[in-house]
Amino acid sequence: MAAPKSKLSNGREIPMIGLGTWAGWQAQSGQIRDAVKTAIDTGYRHIDTAYAYKVEDIVGAAVMDKIQDKTIKREDIFITSKLWQTFLAPEHVKPAFQKTLKDLGLEYLDLYLIHKPAPYKYVEGEMIPKDEDGNVLFDDSIDHADTWREMEKLVDEGLVKTIGISNFNHHQIQHLLDNCSIKPAVNQFEVHPYLTQTKLVEFCQKRDIHVTAFSPFGSPAEWENKPPDPPLLQNPKIKEIGERHQKTIAQVILRYLFQRGISVIPKSANAGRIRQNFQVFDFELTDQEMGDLKALNQNWRVYPHDWDAKSRHYPFNEVYD
Ligand code: A2P
Repeated sequence: MAAPKSKLSNGREIPMIGLGTWAGWQAQSGQIRDAVKTAIDTGYRHIDTAYAYKVEDIVGAAVMDKIQDKTIKREDIFITSKLWQTFLAPEHVKPAFQKTLKDLGLEYLDLYLIHKPAPYKYVEGEMIPKDEDGNVLFDDSIDHADTWREMEKLVDEGLVKTIGISNFNHHQIQHLLDNCSIKPAVNQFEVHPYLTQTKLVEFCQKRDIHVTAFSPFGSPAEWENKPPDPPLLQNPKIKEIGERHQKTIAQVILRYLFQRGISVIPKSANAGRIRQNFQVFDFELTDQEMGDLKALNQNWRVYPHDWDAKSRHYPFNEVYD
């Protein structure tokens, strides 16, 4: 069965489920390659990656394998990547994009996002540039509208079909809306039952900005922040809802997001779980269950990105819920 898609403001469509490919900077290339291939064999038609994940070449090779063995054609699959924080100065946008495209081995990208709003100084070869005392080097002179203009040029040149943002707060989105020719079509940010993001989701959806949720399971393997008790994937309330539908906690969470019109990009290196996460379009949560899930909100983030807090563009100072 094909996954449902959602229409974007530019008329294109985004599949409601994709495979996330962040696996830490020690990512095992074999695992990522196998995960992408399993996902495509399962029916996933969206792969989410980023320059910063350091796996674009592996993701690209896996997609190419699946094109070559005729499981998919290029136009069947939606590939997302992201502009890293060192490349937000206008002169770095296109070269950074071209590196991504080359590493993926593609001729165009379906979706390109500004990965995070806090710009770093560009230092050749550094992912997170720091001074000798270990302080992150920000470039607070950057205006996102100037970065965005370069993103728009990539669309005009036919190199990317759709552009968007990630981790932007509502002020930052509004600034782009006030200064753009092409609207951001997607905002990708952390959403799950412990961080329901009611207001930000509503802000985006009212403006026809599609929301994609990363870390739908609260990224159990890598909490930056102190984990809540119980962890999301052990929550008894969600378990009880799942039992009613003969679904796992993970499936209930994905379904909850889907019913809010949010696409999801769960990560997994396990073939069984990659398949399980795709089986979420054959049941329906009731209004009561949706309400019970919403009530689990704790405004708890897996990824507060604390090291960006000194940037004037740090997005998470304000609780917006
Ligand atoms: P694994 O790779 O062993 O499947 P998130 O997408 O929120 O960042 O969560 C990713 C984490 O959740 C990974 O550690 C992954 O582990 C685990 N995971 C993915 N799918 C499931 C599932 N259906 N049930 C339990 N854990 C899952």
